[in-house]
Amino acid sequence: MRKLTLVIFGALAVSSLAYALDQDQAEKVTAVRQGALKVVGWNIGPMSAMAKEEIPYDADLFALHAERIAVLTGMLPEVFKADTRDNPVDTEALDAIWEDFDEFTRLANAAENQALQASAMAKNKDFGDARAALGELGQACKDCHEKFRED
Ligand code: HEC
Repeated sequence: MRKLTLVIFGALAVSSLAYALDQDQAEKVTAVRQGALKVVGWNIGPMSAMAKEEIPYDADLFALHAERIAVLTGMLPEVFKADTRDNPVDTEALDAIWEDFDEFTRLANAAENQALQASAMAKNKDFGDARAALGELGQACKDCHEKFRED
């Protein structure tokens, strides 16, 4: 964990000076990005299953998963900041991210806000509203994937 933290800080410090990342840093930051998004996927799974009534709806759990997604999507501009276009890394991230980083940031913020909304709706104890907010959140994921993630 300590090592990981140092790696992230290292990558960001370098990127803010607009130097290219070396290959080792690029691979590590790519792993952090994909790890964060895997954990986003991990959290949305049970929310979807609840919305589809495949598992019992638990408002507290629904809100918890949504809050984790808010934290993780809120981190996306930070972890994607370093420009790794010139590094040969195994990624589905499109070059468009660094061509229009403002738009990438906007869509990350939209997903974060939508996740917070889903959490608020679950805390209000209204299943219908929570389910509708999850639908909007899913759309926010899709909006970013359509522009910035390889098919
Ligand atoms: C601001 C843009 C953005 C948003 C918002 C976003 N994603 Fe993604 N997502 C990406 C990008 C870019 C990748 C490809 C990362 C890579 O391969 O390096 C990705 C990849 C993923 C992956 C694959 C991770 C892996 O490598 O195994 C999952 C799962 C995922 N996203 C789920 C979601 C879900 C669920 C949401 C909504 C709650 C979401 N994403 C919101 C940009 C976004």
